[in-house]
Parts: sequence; structure tokens; C-alpha cells
Amino acid sequence: MKIVLAYSGGLDTSVALKWLQEKYDAEVITYTADIGQGIDLEKIREKALKSGAKEAIVEDVREEFIKDYVFPALKAGALYEGKYPLATALGRPLIAKKIVEIAKNKKAEAVAHGCTGKGNDQVRFELTFMALAPGLKVIAPAREWEFRSREEEIEYAREKGIEVEATRESPYSIDRNLWGVSIECGILEDPEKEPPEDAYQITSPPEKSPSPTYVEIEFRKGIPVAIDSEKLDPVKIVEKLNQIGGKYGIGRIDMVEDRVVGIKSREIYEAPAAVILHTCRDALESLVLDKESRLFRTLISQKYAELTYYGWWFSPLKEALDAFIDKLLENLTGKTRVKLWGGNAEVVSRTSPYSLYKEDLATYSEKDIFDHKASEGFIKLWGLPLKVRGEIQPPQ
Ligand code: ARG
Repeated sequence: MKIVLAYSGGLDTSVALKWLQEKYDAEVITYTADIGQGIDLEKIREKALKSGAKEAIVEDVREEFIKDYVFPALKAGALYEGKYPLATALGRPLIAKKIVEIAKNKKAEAVAHGCTGKGNDQVRFELTFMALAPGLKVIAPAREWEFRSREEEIEYAREKGIEVEATRESPYSIDRNLWGVSIECGILEDPEKEPPEDAYQITSPPEKSPSPTYVEIEFRKGIPVAIDSEKLDPVKIVEKLNQIGGKYGIGRIDMVEDRVVGIKSREIYEAPAAVILHTCRDALESLVLDKESRLFRTLISQKYAELTYYGWWFSPLKEALDAFIDKLLENLTGKTRVKLWGGNAEVVSRTSPYSLYKEDLATYSEKDIFDHKASEGFIKLWGLPLKVRGEIQPPQ
């Protein structure tokens, strides 16, 4: 049997690679996508081959990741439970889609991933497989195998000659890509405890932030295109904002979230670029969308985030929401200036050629053109239901 395995090079997928060969007598092709996890992919390729992979494919898909997954979710304002910018959740459908392509090309009978039975990632991988290749067999070694702990996995790895990182294993489970770092396990499992500084990977402590700096971000149709008037490609924009924002301690998120499988889990995230861009996106939107559209958009954002989190990326509903967002936010073009300091990203300036803000309507100066008298009739009708109720049954 030929199997394509989603391979990160970490302990679980390394053990899975060997285990699949033994248990299924399989020929395993590994696939590793570079979505900005900041690791040496060549080393991972070598490790896969050393562990018996028939073929080890590594591919830089960072641009596709940002353009087709991250930026649409940004444009839609998608934050799971109002906070999590979905870095991990956005990466999985892309990796799964690539694996399906390889499985088809190489005529593999099955695909596999190293996720456990408790997490969200198994759901995202498998729903993508189901949507794109309904007939494909899916194997989840970590749900099947006999190891009951990390230690047992390590023992198996040692027995089979798989190199296990000699360096002291981090107590955390870390998933990183360009859109953010997701950190869980260890002391973080106690939601009462403040995350220790060593849990954070790419941000400095906010209290050690340098003095304030300003960044100008330009959007075109909801997509960031330039920083400080310099046009940059999507990957560069995210990289640059992660780097600057990280220095100022921006993008740390500490939350208890609701997993798809019903568990509450305490996670921390670092997402400097995501937090800066969501903040700026929102500020620009406040200028170009009318009130009802903006309120309705928040409903769409929530649904969009849920679909992404739940693994419903390749669904008719998500596709339709993209079309809706593209239409609604066709004027989301303009510039925002954001002040970075002490872990905060605060927008201090916003401009757009499509701005609905009218100074002569808003002003309290003599330039005012607002029809004050019109308010009288407006208030009469707006409050009419309250007046009628008040006449019949005044509130106590
Ligand atoms: N809770 C986040 C999510 O479901 C992050 C999961 C991170 N995965 C990991 N292996 N650390 O998207």
C-alpha cells in the first residue's frame, strides 16, 4: 500500500512514519509544506528519508498560504471566539489539499496525519480530505497506535533508530506558521497560572517594549499591499509586521477556547502581524462601511471564523461567504497609521478615497451643515413605541 503522510519532522509524525511502514507494510511518501514555521526543511527531508520514507517532498507554499487562506480570513475579519486569528486552523486545509494532489499524482491508496484524537487538527485534515477526495482512505496512526505517552513514543523512536531531538524537549506543544504561533501543554494547562515568559517564541515582553513607533499600512479591497508606502508582496508584509510587532510585545493572546471535540482548552498565541492587521482592517472599515453593513459583517466574521476553526474551509458556505465579503468590502481601500507600543497596536489615523465620514456633518464648528431641526421629527417617531408604552404602563 502507498500512503502519503503529512510530515512535520516532530516526534509524532516521525513515529507515525515508521509505524505506518511496519503496521501497514506501506510505502510512505512524506509531505512537508513550508508555511513559515521557521525550520530547516532540508533537514526534515533528510530525516524523513533516514526514517524510511520512499520519497520526501518539501514545498514552499508560503505565498499561497497568505494569499489564498490568510488574507481572505483577514478580509472577513475572522477571529475565533473573538480573539484567535486562526493561524493553525488556516494552515491545515492547505496542507491537506496538497496531500490530496500528491496522493492523486502518485496513485496512493491512503493519506495519513499525525494528529491525536483530542484536537482540532485531525478534524481539519480529514474534512478537507473528505471534501476534496471522498474516496481516499485516511489513516490516523496516533488514534490507533498502542503508545500511551510521549515517553513510550520516544522509546519506540529510539528502538527504531529515529533521531529524537537531543536538546531538552520543550514542555510545550508548539505549532508555528507565518500567521502566528500556537502554544499549549505544560504549565499552560492550568488556566489559573500566568504563562511563563519562556512559553513565548516570537514576541518580547510588552513591558520591555521600546518607545513608540508608527507604521502605515495600506489596503486595497481589504488586502494589505504596502507598509510605509513601500509595496510589498503578501509574505513580506506578514513577515515584516511579525518582526516589528514582536519587538513591541504585540499579539500575545491568552485564552480558554472551545475545541471542536467539546473540550475547553487553554492556549496562548503569538500573532503580531495578525493583530496589527486585524486592528487596521477594522479601523479602515469603520470609515467605509455604513452602520448596518458593519454590524452584519460581524455576524459573517463570526461564522467565517467558526467554519475555519471547524475544518469547513472547503465548504459551499465558506465559498459563498467569500463572495459576500468581496462584494461588501469592495471599498475597503485606504491607509491606516498604527502606533505600536507596550503590547498595543492603536490606530491613530485612517484615510480612504471611499470614506463615508463627512466632517461638515460631524463638526461642532460653524462649518456644520447638519439639519438640527430634522432631529425633532426623527425623535418623535423613533421614541413613539416607548411613549405609547409609557402611557399605558410606565416602567417602575
Ligand atoms: N487551538 C489551536 C487550533 O485549534 C491551535 C492548535 C495547535 N496545535 C498544536 N499542535 N499545538 O487551531
